Amino acid sequence: MKSFDVVVIGAGPAGYIAAIRAAQLGLATACVEEWKTPRGEYALGGTCLNVGCIPSKALLESSENYARVLHQFKAHGITASGVKLELKTMLDRKDRIVSRMTSGVAGLFKKNKITWLQGHGRLVSGGTSWKIDVEGEAIEAKHVIIATGSKARHLPGVAVDNKTICDNEGALAFDSVPERLGVIGAGVVGLELGSVWRRLGAKVKVLEALPAFLGAADEAVAQEAWKQFTKNQGLEIELGATISKVVQQKKYVSIQYTGSDNSSKSFECDRLIVSVGRVPNTDGLGAENVGLKLDAKGFIEVDQNCRTGLPRVYAVGDVVRGPMLAHKGEDEGVMVAEIIAGQRGHVNYDAIPWVIYTAPEIAWVGKTEQQLKSEGVAYRAGRFPFAYNGRALGREEPEGFVKILADARTDRILGVHSIGGLASELIAEAVVAIEFGASSEDIARICHAHPSMSEVTREAALAVDKRSLNG
Ligand code: FAD
Ligand code: NAI
Repeated sequence: MKSFDVVVIGAGPAGYIAAIRAAQLGLATACVEEWKTPRGEYALGGTCLNVGCIPSKALLESSENYARVLHQFKAHGITASGVKLELKTMLDRKDRIVSRMTSGVAGLFKKNKITWLQGHGRLVSGGTSWKIDVEGEAIEAKHVIIATGSKARHLPGVAVDNKTICDNEGALAFDSVPERLGVIGAGVVGLELGSVWRRLGAKVKVLEALPAFLGAADEAVAQEAWKQFTKNQGLEIELGATISKVVQQKKYVSIQYTGSDNSSKSFECDRLIVSVGRVPNTDGLGAENVGLKLDAKGFIEVDQNCRTGLPRVYAVGDVVRGPMLAHKGEDEGVMVAEIIAGQRGHVNYDAIPWVIYTAPEIAWVGKTEQQLKSEGVAYRAGRFPFAYNGRALGREEPEGFVKILADARTDRILGVHSIGGLASELIAEAVVAIEFGASSEDIARICHAHPSMSEVTREAALAVDKRSLNG
């Protein structure tokens, strides 16, 4: 029987990073992965590399370039005629990036001498070592790291065929731009993929169950995002909608729902994206064989160090509590591998950034203003717009702002919220600040290159003390 110090089940960002770190630390490591490409080949990288972060960002970039040529170049004095969308080329580029990234992980496995066990992994029994079945072969492990990730949640009675009614997988691969696209769920997937197809020419209508838009974001950011997406970009978003029926007709999908005013409504679309969240993936994992505890929503129960209730069994990434973000899973993977190797692995859950890659981008770390209010924390807020920044104007990206929330007594930064160009990159400074316990005064006194978008972060820090220099 093959025997390892560590067997990781799942090779998404949480699992493959855990495997690499374990191998770096000298542990004999294997990783079980069952993902197959549409061509039927086994692939590493999980949701993130195959049908999540990486392909969605490739399409966001391509569609943004298309929108720039059509709508923004004019302002620069560039006119382009005969602009044509070649969707197949765009999708092929995305697929090439995915395959380059997933084979990159295979290369990293080779380099780090990690054994890739291809197929489905199932926990069989425990004791002094753990037994795992991989496609009929018994494998032995001293330590197990479960990183089986998540899958799209579907709505009862709505059959996803990933051609007409799609979750993230189908929505990343439409073979033509739908004339009318429906989206159920105005969360991160709905907004990112809705934006892609809107920019490529679809008329997009998004139905959201909750009465508030982007409830997890700071209210000021959510308000600005609402304005940008609905007024400036033409996404139609309806809040407080209760879906009653989705019927797939021969050539279109009809959706019946109740609006926020309790009236019955309906609309038709050529394709529908169902993006109503994700559920943890423990299908056929054998949790019941070994007494692995799941919570009421199906997540594997873990402590702050990702230990399950079973000895030497850990779980990381989307399959456990916390935000479903690739970098959160990666950090948990590193933490667990280091703990197994006898080191002091650690994740600071208060310093995990969120980014929504729409245009403008949205990014934040730490507490929102509404959270601080509800927790009764005294704070000071500073906000500065990109419209006063020379680099932002040069980039033709004057929308949005950076907002910093700092403790009223100590000035320690509690939250940074941003909507605007390059927000995904700018947020790194805020993460470092929060990780190091910096004050807004620290950022205000650090030299920021001119002209750069990052000057807006400094000006927002100065604004906390009401002493912005350029506005
Ligand atoms: P996964 O990536 O889901 O990987 C789990 C792996 O385990 C899968 O490959 C699966 O095949 C395998 N597996 C499951 N069960 C078994 C078994 N029993 N045996 C063998 N293998 C098994 N996050 C970000 O941070 N930034 C983004 O920009 C971003 N964009 C996204 C865009 C979309 C459209 C979607 C859907 C998600 C996005 N996410 C993003 C979320 C991100 O993809 C997830 O948080 C991340 O993939 C979770 O990593 P994971 O390793 O926990 O699980
Ligand atoms: P989500 O949780 O972000 O959003 C789902 C939305 O659907 C919510 O607003 C919810 O209220 C709504 N909803 C739920 N049921 C509904 C119903 N019956 N009718 C109408 N609306 C309904 O989930 P999403 O967008 O599917 O993404 C899943 C996860 O993947 C995200 O939470 C995030 O963790 C991750 N992700 C991260 C990205 C990033 O970091 N940029 C990009 C895409 C996904």
